[in-house]
Amino acid sequence: MKTIIIYESKHHGNTKKVCDRVAAECQVELIEAGSVGADFNWEDYDLMGFASGIAYSKFYDSVSRVAEQIPAGKGTFFIYTCAKNDKDFAAKIKKVVEERGAKCLGTYGCRGFNTYGPLKLIGGMNKSNPNEDELKAAVEFVKKVEKTYEK
Ligand SMILES: Cc1cc2nc3c(=O)[nH]c(=O)nc-3n(C[C@H](O)[C@H](O)[C@H](O)COP(=O)(O)O)c2cc1C
Repeated sequence: MKTIIIYESKHHGNTKKVCDRVAAECQVELIEAGSVGADFNWEDYDLMGFASGIAYSKFYDSVSRVAEQIPAGKGTFFIYTCAKNDKDFAAKIKKVVEERGAKCLGTYGCRGFNTYGPLKLIGGMNKSNPNEDELKAAVEFVKKVEKTYEK
């Protein structure tokens, strides 16, 4: 089974931090959403993760654009970092892949350092996120998704 995570992390590298830890501890490849071109071979992978910071309550457009091309039958999972982890920010992108016949196996979200707008003036919020516990939880999440998919 081959797994790849397609990500964008443009605000403070918060989501990349999560993806890097997952890649260090699980058998997954990482690719930036902006590097997914026409030559990307979906058939090389069984399980696709989509990872993003959240802007205006949704995944970054670059990640959503890739998700819009997913072929039917793939397993998918979602990872995000956000300011306030109080709702399912993956709901929209999940709907997109489900409509294309992919299967959603889970979502993991945690807080990330945020200096959007006036927050900058006070040094931002969530300065120490994602923290060690959140990174560990992300790894456990991906391991669990991989096991679920194997069954
Ligand atoms: C333009 C902008 C819009 C944002 N919108 C939201 C939002 O709607 N909800 C939220 O919880 N966080 C929001 N955030 C905070 C980011 O999602 C958070 O800092 C995230 O960890 C950034 O991830 P990244 O460093 O991987 O890009 C926003 C940040 C920016 C810069």
